Amino acid sequence: MVKAVVLGAAGGIGQPLSLLLKASPLIDELALYDVVNTPGVAADLSHISSVAKITGYLPKEDGLKNALTGANVVVIPAGIPRKPGMTRDDLFKVNAGIVKTLVQGIADFAPKAFVLVISNPVNSTVPIAAEVLKAAGVFDARRLFGVTTLDVVRAETFTQEYSGKKNASEATVPVIGGHSGETIVPLFSKVSPSFQIPADRYEDLVKRVQFGGDEVVKAKDGAGSATLSMAFAGFRFAEAVIKASQGEKGIVEPTFVHLNGVPGGDEIAKATGLDFFSTPVELGRNGVEKAINILDGVTEREQELLKACIDGLKGNIEKGVEFTKNPPK
Ligand code: NAD
Ligand code: LMR
Repeated sequence: MVKAVVLGAAGGIGQPLSLLLKASPLIDELALYDVVNTPGVAADLSHISSVAKITGYLPKEDGLKNALTGANVVVIPAGIPRKPGMTRDDLFKVNAGIVKTLVQGIADFAPKAFVLVISNPVNSTVPIAAEVLKAAGVFDARRLFGVTTLDVVRAETFTQEYSGKKNASEATVPVIGGHSGETIVPLFSKVSPSFQIPADRYEDLVKRVQFGGDEVVKAKDGAGSATLSMAFAGFRFAEAVIKASQGEKGIVEPTFVHLNGVPGGDEIAKATGLDFFSTPVELGRNGVEKAINILDGVTEREQELLKACIDGLKGNIEKGVEFTKNPPK
């Protein structure tokens, strides 16, 4: 039995993500929670002839508790998205509190669930989630994930002409670090099966992966940020976590994790000086089975990208931790 829960299920990401989860034969029960519209979204999806039983909850009548009780996987796309001219960090003021409250609910009602955080700024909301779970005494680093799969999906798509794969996702293009601008580091030297990026295209491709989110924000012109591609990416990651929890072997995806507390994480923490970092992880029955260190043997240019990433991530992580330890009055 797999129960999946989407917190923020009525939103731009929440709705298509819920659709993909409802259609998945891996899921037996799907609970949708939002501050608005979940009864309607759940009623609509309930007509789909698939396995999952679906329910929709609002905050009234213990909605969060009822949605979360018995959950195995909780995905969080709740929170405001960017408008043109904003950074992801500009979302912190509103989204930090939303994530803190929802993760407190997870600590109370589904402390063993896998928690997949989509809400931005991921570089800070995941540290917030970790601190809330630690304070509640239920933190297991192997079960908390910042979803950075959209960066990987973009990197696969943008390099497709060089990988030569008809289905772009058949190439493995590692993207590590964090999830905003320069903290996003594609490692084109580590693609597999190996292929070459032409030297005169390299810098543009790095920038496109780092700032792919801005492309969508600009094109949507005030109507939000990536939703459909994010639902695709969020579903890909949720499906990977569920399949691995059911015993499927060899599933590896990059994700933003708390390094101390996941096997293999200490080595990456030492190399980067960071507590959180997105790195390929091998998934297993209990979440992260091994964080894989792919920092050795990167090119000189990738080392420079990593330096900028680490400088940026440090502050983002501290901001999240500080918010939970010393909440704004
Ligand atoms: P949206 O505004 O369309 O939807 C957000 C939903 O969250 C809304 O339905 C809203 O009612 C709900 N919500 C707000 N407060 C809530 C609460 N306390 N409890 C439950 N639900 C609540 O926004 P969106 O486009 O779906 O984006 C959601 C978030 O995902 C944003 O922060 C965005 O920046 C982020 N995002 C992350 C990635 C990534 O790669 N990790 C990619 C795209 C977007
Ligand atoms: C993305 O990468 O598309 C998301 O983080 C949304 C954004 O604000 O760009």
